Amino acid sequence: MIDFRKLAEPGTLEETLLEKIDLKRLPRHIAVIMDGNGRWAKSRNLPRVEGHRAGIASVKEVVETAARLELRVITLYAFSVENWKRPRYEVATLMMLLKEYLRKELATLMENNIRFVPIGRIEGLDPSVQRELRYAQEQTASNTGLLFQIALNYGGRAEIVDTVNRVMALLREREMADAVIDEQFFSDHLYTANIDDPDLLIRTSGELRVSNFLLWQIAYAEIHVNKVLWPDFRRRHLFEAIIDFQARDRRYGAVDESDAGMFIEADGNRA
Ligand code: FPP
Repeated sequence: MIDFRKLAEPGTLEETLLEKIDLKRLPRHIAVIMDGNGRWAKSRNLPRVEGHRAGIASVKEVVETAARLELRVITLYAFSVENWKRPRYEVATLMMLLKEYLRKELATLMENNIRFVPIGRIEGLDPSVQRELRYAQEQTASNTGLLFQIALNYGGRAEIVDTVNRVMALLREREMADAVIDEQFFSDHLYTANIDDPDLLIRTSGELRVSNFLLWQIAYAEIHVNKVLWPDFRRRHLFEAIIDFQARDRRYGAVDESDAGMFIEADGNRA
């Protein structure tokens, strides 16, 4: 049961926003492109890494809020395959912050019944990072609440290529190299196999790009862009994104039933 007191203090903006949310139509899976850490730091004359450090507070608030709202899945884009191009010090700090987060927040993940799973080319990360990730994943494996996926050394194209290779290996192994696969079979071998696709993709800092994130999975996601820089992103912004999502008309390529009569088939009969 959703505990409203843990989501909004009485009389706050958060409470007003929460009242606007239809709790029966929550997105099942929210994916987030956390952007703007560097600009947040720059605007304060701080080194870029301070933006990442400040971004951890947003990660904590968003993940805990998602758990309290009883969402099924949240996926955060923390480090892309392209992010290795950043200065060595910035990459090292990001990895250090990740390890620190996992160590400090494991108790909170457990308290909130959150299952933690990293996705991406995890084998390409430093062994010390892999160890922390594995530990957090194992410790939270039996939790039954929110699934918190963190995308690390992740690329949407890399995932598709990895999936193609995985599928080809599997078919060779089963001596079915000539088989024709379908979308479902392909999905079942993505990093996110068995996880519903995101219904809502949030991007902060106002940029209108998907940046190689969950390319296959966001096919029908609603996109919400907020100008707020990631370190300033708070619960209220998540509520705003959900309200925006619930105002969308999701048709998946079809038309509204009420509009179906507006189309006339080639033979002149109404469709
Ligand atoms: C994008 O901002 C942000 C990242 C590349 C990293 C996001 C990482 C964190 C919030 C901290 C670590 C995460 C966890 C889960 C512990 P940017 O640097 O590209 O910002 P800019 O576009 O303003 O330069």
